[in-house]
Amino acid sequence: RRQPSRKGSTADMPHDLLGEIKRLEDLFSVDTAKLKAITEHFISELAKGLSKEGGSIPMNPTWCMSFPTGHEQGTFLALDMGGTNLRVCEIILPEEKGEFDIIQSKYRMPEELKTGTADELWGYVADCLQQFIEYHHEGEKLGNLPLGFTFSYPASQDYIDNGVLQRWTKGFDIDGVEGEDVVPQFEAALKERGVPIKLTALINDTTGTLIASNYTDDEMRVGCIFGTGCNAAYMEHAGEVPKLAHMNLPADQEIAINCEWGAFDNEHKILPRTPYDVIIDKDSPRPGQQTFEKMIAGLYLGEIFRLVLVDLHSQPHVQIFPNQDISALQKPYSLDASFLSDIENDPFENLQETHDSFDSKLGIKTTKPELELIRRLTELIGTRAARLSACGVAAICKKKGYTTAHVGADGSVFNKYPHFKARGAQALKEILDWDKDRDGKKLGRGRDPIEILPAEDGSGVGAALIAALTIKRVQQGHN
Ligand code: GLC
Repeated sequence: RRQPSRKGSTADMPHDLLGEIKRLEDLFSVDTAKLKAITEHFISELAKGLSKEGGSIPMNPTWCMSFPTGHEQGTFLALDMGGTNLRVCEIILPEEKGEFDIIQSKYRMPEELKTGTADELWGYVADCLQQFIEYHHEGEKLGNLPLGFTFSYPASQDYIDNGVLQRWTKGFDIDGVEGEDVVPQFEAALKERGVPIKLTALINDTTGTLIASNYTDDEMRVGCIFGTGCNAAYMEHAGEVPKLAHMNLPADQEIAINCEWGAFDNEHKILPRTPYDVIIDKDSPRPGQQTFEKMIAGLYLGEIFRLVLVDLHSQPHVQIFPNQDISALQKPYSLDASFLSDIENDPFENLQETHDSFDSKLGIKTTKPELELIRRLTELIGTRAARLSACGVAAICKKKGYTTAHVGADGSVFNKYPHFKARGAQALKEILDWDKDRDGKKLGRGRDPIEILPAEDGSGVGAALIAALTIKRVQQGHN
């Protein structure tokens, strides 16, 4: 059930630290039975979100009504406002499915913008877009270049070119946007600057990932993001969405659903939350929201780690960093997920880099046993994140009845966190019982029937494809 600790790793471990490692293992491990129970609950919550009454997972209809055919064509702008970066892209989709051209500029989302005013936010976004256009298209008339805007927050949409922000996630806290349609706010900032661009589609990064991945691999059925935030989208039949009954869509009409699964278990019925998860939630700008996301997403992994170390240091019976000044470690959100990645990548034999970065970044001198506890803690936090993520993927596949499928995934945690993919795949295997035949005997190795694979660039190419699909739908007289 648990990863065995490495040979010799606990040999010289003082008793108090050994006891703490054991306690943390118990707190952070999620066994197969629990994974299965979480998955079953997840399936019922997905359905609840689609019902008229609704549930805690929003299950937002995206008005993206089909997978691409491969014949989408033209030049598109894509704007990607994620939790960490802002990206502007220009994408040329070829006549026949194949290599697309893309030019892009990346900007960092300044930290202070996340808690600033709506005017500052939209002003910054519009400025970046304007700069891009001026640089690449000086003096050209661009009025007709369609824009796909990847706005990766939960939004309710009546149609694809609007979106009322349900609530900020990923640590954003800007007044005057929640409960409002973000498109007019964004377009007003463009107009003020004389930027001649009109938005064609407002999309979520997961929907973009779903569509872009399916463009290159038609077995892709789910799009996931494991990055600063964590979420998924999949293609549903309108007949399975009771809350859209009033639209009288044909029952077999496809419509992509942005699950916003970060909100799973906001009522705290099933997830194995630790006291550290409780603190993360309580001190966040939106307590009570995004329970699942706060245990998995990149924004929070470093903070969970930090909270555990600060807690251990405060325990009189635990000797960790004794007589050292830990004030740098006491600063909230001072460690990000890449700090944990680096520790997991550090050769276990001497954990030299970990030793050095604790020293240089936090001013803490670490001993060998402390380093081993630190390393084990990163493994526990990273493994829990990957295993819980697999529950969401398994739930969607089970709900849809997929026994084989490809799942496209993107985001910094998926792409960069060591072993995240393997740990997630292992958990899927346990949840879906692939390693056993009907008599419970172990089966040999083979390809996993449901595979989570690196996705195409959803927020860029996906946004362009969705803009193209939208224009085609409008031309065909649908709205
Ligand atoms: C958060 C957002 C969601 C987004 C995800 C990944 O969960 O609410 O819209 O898809 O982060 O970026």
